[in-house]
Amino acid sequence: MNILAIDTSCDETAVAVTNGRKILSNIIYSQVLLHQKWGGVVPSLAKRAHEERIDGIVALAVKKSSLQWEDIDAIAVTQGPGLAIALGVGISKAKELAQKYNKPLLGINHLEGHLYSVFAQNSKGKPEREIVFPYLSMIISGGHTEFILWKNHLEYEMLGSTLDDAAGEALDKAGKLLGLGYPAGAVVERLAETVKQSDPYEFPRPMLHSKDLNFSFSGLNTSFYYFLKKISEEEKNTNIALLASSFQEAVFDTIIHKAEDAIKKTGVHNLVIGGGVSANKYLRKRFRTLVKKYSGIVYFPTIKSLTGDNAAMIGITAWKKAENGLFSTNTIEREPRMKIISTCK
Ligand code: KG4
Ligand code: ZN
Repeated sequence: MNILAIDTSCDETAVAVTNGRKILSNIIYSQVLLHQKWGGVVPSLAKRAHEERIDGIVALAVKKSSLQWEDIDAIAVTQGPGLAIALGVGISKAKELAQKYNKPLLGINHLEGHLYSVFAQNSKGKPEREIVFPYLSMIISGGHTEFILWKNHLEYEMLGSTLDDAAGEALDKAGKLLGLGYPAGAVVERLAETVKQSDPYEFPRPMLHSKDLNFSFSGLNTSFYYFLKKISEEEKNTNIALLASSFQEAVFDTIIHKAEDAIKKTGVHNLVIGGGVSANKYLRKRFRTLVKKYSGIVYFPTIKSLTGDNAAMIGITAWKKAENGLFSTNTIEREPRMKIISTCK
């Protein structure tokens, strides 16, 4: 089954063609330059940019897949969660294409997509990565920090999430205070790689001693803000890499500590980690060290274009939905606060 998938949940206009777990094409137009000067995503600008680009990106995704429209069996689209007016662009386009080419429609949860992204394969079916449930999974991005027990295809149990800012958002806010631009996660990573002493400042680790699997990063950001206010501009600039590294360490320490709690609570030793922050090499190393302790494994998306927002992950999720006959009607609506729930039959 060949699926054309669309994701316009935030600031990437993304269209892909997939077949099962195989990616036939995966086009991502990032609007990051457009939003950069505002220090964050501006929904109205995102909507307009999606509208301007979507037709061209759909055409390119079909062309790069080497398929014709008659070879496409279904249209999938992200229904939520995400920015309401941005989601709307993709959903309207998906409905229009489904009607025009007479294809069934599948409304997909973006969070499920981030989980399935680790099982994406290239057109030759690599990597093979057999799927053996359950997985203790995490989505770590600019919008989400969630623990999900992935019990089976389309079967999930939410274990915990952030009570305020997401991990990527925390890194972005800290980066902004350091003058690193937006988004800052990757810049913080590069700065942290340059220092020998990774955590000289020892900023607070939020929620480390709470018994649940929730996160809260706003307190860490507040203490970082007040710390920077106390030191001179010169001191800040001289020690910028040490500050970035210490902040990153506080965020990742919290994530790894909570992940270990989650392993102990669930008894599940195999991990699946998706979302933009999972591109971070140091964080990957920390996860690998953690699972080694429990003789488990950890899967991340294999290529950078699958850690952040993309439509291939939506197409792969849609394949499982289609197998279960979970098609949508042409009346689907955006669901900006969509939760991850089990939908298998
Ligand atoms: O998944 P994503 O592309 O978009 C959503 O938020 O849905 O994630 C973007 C987030 C941003 O906060 C960005 O700073 C962070 O991922 N990020 C990173 C890295 N690359 C992107 N954080 C840490 N290290 C990285 N290498
Ligand atoms: Zn995302």
